[in-house]
Amino acid sequence: MMYSLLPFLNSSKVKVLSLILGSLYLLNLCRCTTQTPTPTNSLESVPYQTSPYSLMVPEFFPQPQLSEENPLTFEGIALGRKLYYDPIMDGKGNRSCSSCHIQGQAFQINNGSHQVVPHINMTWTTKFMWDGGFEGTLEEVMIFEVEEFFNTDLSKLNNNWEYRKLFKGAFNVNEITSKEAAFALAQFARTLNSTDSKYDQFNRGELSLSPEEMKGYMLFFNEKGDCFHCHSPELFTDNQTRNNGLDMNPDSGYFAHSKDPQDVGKFKTPTLRNIELTAPYMHDGRFTTLEEVVEFYANGVQNSPNIDPLMLHSSAGGNKLTPEEQANLIAFLKTLTDSNFTTREELSNPF
Ligand code: HEC
Ligand code: HEC
Repeated sequence: MMYSLLPFLNSSKVKVLSLILGSLYLLNLCRCTTQTPTPTNSLESVPYQTSPYSLMVPEFFPQPQLSEENPLTFEGIALGRKLYYDPIMDGKGNRSCSSCHIQGQAFQINNGSHQVVPHINMTWTTKFMWDGGFEGTLEEVMIFEVEEFFNTDLSKLNNNWEYRKLFKGAFNVNEITSKEAAFALAQFARTLNSTDSKYDQFNRGELSLSPEEMKGYMLFFNEKGDCFHCHSPELFTDNQTRNNGLDMNPDSGYFAHSKDPQDVGKFKTPTLRNIELTAPYMHDGRFTTLEEVVEFYANGVQNSPNIDPLMLHSSAGGNKLTPEEQANLIAFLKTLTDSNFTTREELSNPF
């Protein structure tokens, strides 16, 4: 637009115009660089006003775990979303949570360098991390993330007038501590729920599965396939740590925390929701494709003394599904992909 205007302007007008534009530019720069800490008393004019948010979960799902100390509010969730996507949180570098927990990849990352646990349905999680070693509430795990994993420099938040206002509005605090930052993240995390896959739509009677998907469905839920005992519906995890027979001499797993020899090789049962999107697979990312995973359950199970009793076919080395059955099982697993979850606006980068 500027360009097309130019021919109609004489040179003095151009000078005036560029002067105006120039000072606007400077003013703008000043606004960005001089975020001086605002005196606490000016926060007094910022109202603490929250509107309660009610979490909608489908009737098939278990009751969500909410927090009395940290009730969900629109303001808290919006603030948590901002923090999740803002590198200001990183006290050591320049990452945001979303650098490794990417919405389009079900809130994990496929590059294989970190075996990231996806953020899916954490509302129901009680044992966090691959080895299940962090047991507690979502609020507690978020305090760990802020204080230890990210080592958040709280003075950066407290020097940011925008955040001071948002925290005052959502939590009624003049000074931001790691507790409120964690509580906001926990509120946003409670909305990262995947409940609208093709499987869910089938469950609600809105569509039917293809013949292959339906055969895979049967295998998943019967003793022959033997998947549902641990990856139990509707979360497709039992939220337990188990040894699924990957190795004769497995990694330590939950043993690292409990020191009980029975827990060697126990890892948390991962949810299978959005499994199509979260390769590579297992705590160490050893399998690149779902084909490899299903072949492992068919023929590669290691029958070590610590293997979980729910691995029903362990003495045979696996469930022995034929290639066709394996393909059907994979077709079913792909019905757990939820594109609403991976594209939903409310969960996306707000910046
Ligand atoms: C450098 C990559 C990276 C970044 C950045 C990152 N995470 Fe993670 N996150 C991981 C990895 C890897 C795991 C799994 C760690 C393990 O199991 O030992 C994980 C696991 C988690 C878990 C456990 C989930 C579960 O269900 O078990 C939570 C909660 C979590 N991250 C929250 C966050 C938050 C909040 C932030 C931002 C403050 C963040 N992460 C930033 C890599 C990252
Ligand atoms: C005894 C419980 C149990 C049974 C039965 C079971 N799994 Fe698993 N599954 C697990 C555990 C535990 C892990 C994670 C192991 C690890 O990372 O060390 C896992 C991992 C997976 C993964 C990789 C998930 C990811 O995010 O990396 C897939 C896919 C999977 N299982 C599919 C299946 C299928 C399909 C079946 C049925 C053929 C099945 N599982 C049966 C417990 C079980």
